[in-house]
Amino acid sequence: MMTGDDPLEESESGKPVTDGGAAGADDVALDPWGSSAVSDYRKLFEEFGIERFDEVLEEVPDPHYLMRRGVIFGHRDYRPVAEALREGEDAAVLSGFMPTGDPHIGHKLVFDEIIWHQQRGADAYGLIADLEANSARGMSWDEIDEHARDYLLSLLALGFDPEEGTLYRQSTNRELQDLAFELGADANFSELEAIYGFDGGTDVSHMQSVVTQMADILYPQLEEPKPTVIPVGPDQDPHVRLARDLAERTRFFKVSKAYASFELEPAERDLVADLYEQLDPAEFDDDSLRCVHVAEAIEETPLEELGVPADTLGSVLTKLEEAGMEPVRPRTRFFDRRATDEAFDALIDAIDGEKRVYENHVDAFELEVGEAEELAREVEVDNGGYGFRPPSSIYHRFMTGLTGGKMSSSVPASHISLLDDPEDGYDKVKAATTGGRETAAEQREKGGKADECPVYELYAYLLAGDDDEFAKRVYDECVGGERLCGDCKEQAAQLIREFLAEHQEKRAEVEGLLEDADIELESPRA
Ligand code: TRP
Ligand code: SF4
Repeated sequence: MMTGDDPLEESESGKPVTDGGAAGADDVALDPWGSSAVSDYRKLFEEFGIERFDEVLEEVPDPHYLMRRGVIFGHRDYRPVAEALREGEDAAVLSGFMPTGDPHIGHKLVFDEIIWHQQRGADAYGLIADLEANSARGMSWDEIDEHARDYLLSLLALGFDPEEGTLYRQSTNRELQDLAFELGADANFSELEAIYGFDGGTDVSHMQSVVTQMADILYPQLEEPKPTVIPVGPDQDPHVRLARDLAERTRFFKVSKAYASFELEPAERDLVADLYEQLDPAEFDDDSLRCVHVAEAIEETPLEELGVPADTLGSVLTKLEEAGMEPVRPRTRFFDRRATDEAFDALIDAIDGEKRVYENHVDAFELEVGEAEELAREVEVDNGGYGFRPPSSIYHRFMTGLTGGKMSSSVPASHISLLDDPEDGYDKVKAATTGGRETAAEQREKGGKADECPVYELYAYLLAGDDDEFAKRVYDECVGGERLCGDCKEQAAQLIREFLAEHQEKRAEVEGLLEDADIELESPRA
C-alpha cells in the first residue's frame, strides 16, 4: 500500500461547525496512512458506524468548546468515559503523535482534548509514535528525536501536566512492546490485509507498528481496566475498531443471555426469546415451557411471521428437539473463552444464587447481564487477566487548508505550524482564501460563506477559545453581510500572531519540565 503523509495532508476539508452534517459526496475511505478523503462526514456514521457526538453531548460535564461547536463530531462508545468523568471515577485518555514534521494547529486539537480530560481527572497519556514514523514513513531517528521534542514541548505548553500524566515513546517502552507481542497473537495477516490493505509487499515492521498502536490504545488499562478515550482524527478509526476487537478477544469469559443449556446463535436466540415472551407456560402439561413446546410453536407459525431465514429455522429446530423436555428458562451465561482452570473455578465460586456448571460455561439464574459482566471482569483481573474494557474514541474534523482544499504539512502556506514565526503566521492568515464574495457590495448584500471559509474555521477551532459568543458573532456578522473579509482576516491574523507568540513563550518556559519528565528524548539508535 501507499504510505501517504500525515492525516491532515490527505484529508479534505471538514466543513465548519455550524452545518452539523456536511455536504458533498465523494467516496469515503478511512486509511491511517493513505488518502482519507473525508468530504462527507455523514457517511462515517452510515458506513462505518461512528456515532454522532451531539447525541452524547448532554452527558458530558462542562463540555470542551470543540465538543460544543461540533468540531468533535463523532465517537465510539464515549458514554462510559463521560459517566466516569461525571462521577469522579477512574478514566483515562491517550493519544499518539507521529513525529514526522512540525506540530501544527491540527495537532493542537488533540493536545487540547488530552489536556481537557486530564483536567477532569482522567489519567492522561501522550505518546510519541516513533516506531510508526520510522517504519511507515521512513523517518530517521535523528529527525524523529527533533520532532518528538517539538510535539512534547507544545503539549506541555498547552497545559499537559507531566507529573500527573504519562509520556512515552514507543521504542523504549518495554511493557508496551510485550503487550504488543501478546496482542499480535490474536491478530493475523488476513485481518490486517482486510483492514489496512496490506499485501505481500508490506514490510513486517509496518505490521509491527500496527500491533504497537493496539498496545498503545490498551496501555492505560495495563494496571487495571478503566474507561479510556482515544481522541484522534477519523482516519484512525480502523485502528480503534481493531483495538476494540482485540480487547474483546483477550477476555476470559463471554457473558450473554441464554434460554437453555445449549448454545444458540444470536438470530436463533432472538427467535427463542420472542417465543418465550409469547408462550404461556400455563398452557402446557405441567405448567412449564419446554424446548419441544417451543419447537412445536415454531413449526406451527408461518415462516413469514417468524421473520428468520430458513437455515436458522432448521438449526434452531434441531437444537430444540434434541433438548426435548428440558425447560426453557432465561439465564445469564458465562462462556469460558480462554480462562485458566483456576479462573473458571473462581468464577463458579463467585456466582451468587442458583447456578449450573457445564463443560465450557456456567449459567447463573439470579444475575443480570450487566452485573455478570462486572463479575466476569473482576474474576479475570484477580486471576491474572487484563479484563480490558473496549476502548472508546472521539473524532474531530480536519481543518481546511488556508489556501483552500486540504491542509497539508508539506505546503507551509496551507497550515500554521506551532513553531511558525508569529509574523509568518500573521502573513499566512492575511493571504488565506475566504468564503467571501467578489465585491464588498455583494458581500454586504448576500453575506459571506462562513461555512466554506478557512478563516472562520480558525476562529471556531482556535482563536475564539472558550468564548462561544465571539465565535457566533463572527459567524452571524459574516453571513449577515456586516463583516468584510479584509477586517475579518486582519483580526484573525492579529489573534494568530498573539497566540503563536504566547505559545512559543510558554514552550520556552516548559523546557525544564520536559527535561524532568520521565521520557527518553534521545533515541538510543540516533
Ligand atoms: N497512528 C497515529 C498517527 O498516525 C499515531 C498513534 C500511534 C496513535 N499510537 C497511537 C494515535 C495511539 C492514537 C492512539 O498519527
Ligand atoms: Fe470568512 Fe471572515 Fe470573510 Fe466571513 S468575513 S468569509 S468569516 S474571512
